[in-house]
Amino acid sequence: MALPDGFLWGGALAANQVEGAWKDGGRGPAVTDVNTYKPKADPKQYAVHHVNTLESIQAAMADPDELTYYPKRRGIDFYHRYPEDLALFAEMGFKVLRVSIAWTRLYPTGEELEPNEEGVQHYVDFFTEMRRLGIEPLVTLAHYDPPLHLALKNNAWADRSILPLFERFVRTCFERFGHLVTKWLSFNEIDGIIRHPFTSGGIIEETVEGSVEQACYAALHHQFVAGARATQLLHELYPDSQMGCMLTMLTTYPNTCHPDDVAATQEKERMLFLCTDVQAGGAYPRLALKALERRGVEIPFEEGDIELLREHPADFISFSYYMSLTESVNPEAERTPGNTILGVKNPFLASSEWGWQIDPVGLRISLIELYDRYEKPLFIVENGLGMRDEVDADGAIHDPYRIDYFRAHFEEMIRAVDEGVDLLGYTSWAPIDSISASTSQITKRYGFIHVDMDDLGRGTMERRRKDSFFWYQKVIASNGADLS
Ligand code: BG6
Repeated sequence: MALPDGFLWGGALAANQVEGAWKDGGRGPAVTDVNTYKPKADPKQYAVHHVNTLESIQAAMADPDELTYYPKRRGIDFYHRYPEDLALFAEMGFKVLRVSIAWTRLYPTGEELEPNEEGVQHYVDFFTEMRRLGIEPLVTLAHYDPPLHLALKNNAWADRSILPLFERFVRTCFERFGHLVTKWLSFNEIDGIIRHPFTSGGIIEETVEGSVEQACYAALHHQFVAGARATQLLHELYPDSQMGCMLTMLTTYPNTCHPDDVAATQEKERMLFLCTDVQAGGAYPRLALKALERRGVEIPFEEGDIELLREHPADFISFSYYMSLTESVNPEAERTPGNTILGVKNPFLASSEWGWQIDPVGLRISLIELYDRYEKPLFIVENGLGMRDEVDADGAIHDPYRIDYFRAHFEEMIRAVDEGVDLLGYTSWAPIDSISASTSQITKRYGFIHVDMDDLGRGTMERRRKDSFFWYQKVIASNGADLS
């Protein structure tokens, strides 16, 4: 069993979780800048949906202590330290690095007519350095950071007026970075807008007129339209460049073989695949539309939307995979947190401290299911294990649990490729410790590289190689043949 030559090994990051420097270079505030870190005794409590209210947003923006409780404002200072970090990724042998562009570095409020040249120059320098090191950029246009201004003005993605603003940003990205970047992703985990409307969509729930669910599906539709338009524009400007869509692969099994559990799982899956059906398949699936209609949700189609979606589907499908869940109709079934979701516990799987269930076979199942369904090239753009790490007195960080997690997932990934899945590459989340999207902690560590900082921002920010750094380096050098 072997991976194809040219398989793209690497890692994945998001601007809002690593860049920091939230006021530097003319950057405007993004919704993630008002997400707070609040210590919790039980890490599983972080799974509970956090609602940003107008009051909490205003309090965050007025807080004189700007950094302590807002870790995404400081990130890991990647904005200034990227040359050092890219050199470490190159040392591991990365072929690709997935990153995102912060919309508010180019358009601080989202409404400017011309881009902020300092922001443009930052990304030109950044992508140029990646290319110099032989690392191909895979760039997400929107990873959880709509401009805060648009959220406060009119709930950002819930309002169709965002479309020309986003298109202006996208055009700038293609025109100014298109000679350096040939692989793009439209929206990170596009389905997530239903689970976290503020972070993905800039939707402040209390200000929504009518139902929040309706606003979320309207916002999702606007993102579908914006993604298809971005694909069209990319192909006009750079016919050989590729656009991928991106899904949270929340693989779900029936908790029992009771037909009611199987039927409930089928329903879950239908809503899960709604996004890839539209983005890769080019049309809304009939049964999902019917299910939404029954819940009183209406998709706000406008003239030309159906044709745009049909004519400009994504070139490849990318997804995150961390864990699997089960589904049960039993209201008493024990639940456990997963990636921004509470699911029913699977008695056959172990969980991380944060409750996420570890399921390598689920990765193979996901790859096969997605490939069977769409027959489009796939890209695993997130997979990893958030854990606390200990630094020994001599500075060493032994993380055998992380190596075990990756090894087991790589074995299953390679099996799926052997079965015929067309897989372009794999980027781990995250190759360097970064700020957790859901908990705003850095001590939920994912990296092969340790960052000396605690959840309140104390530390030197020094970077250190963990044991897993050397292990991943060997895996990449052998193209997955040596997983020992
Ligand atoms: C994915 C997101 O859902 O999961 C990332 O795209 C995120 O932004 C990752 O960091 C891991 O989740 P968390 O909450 O542990 O950071």
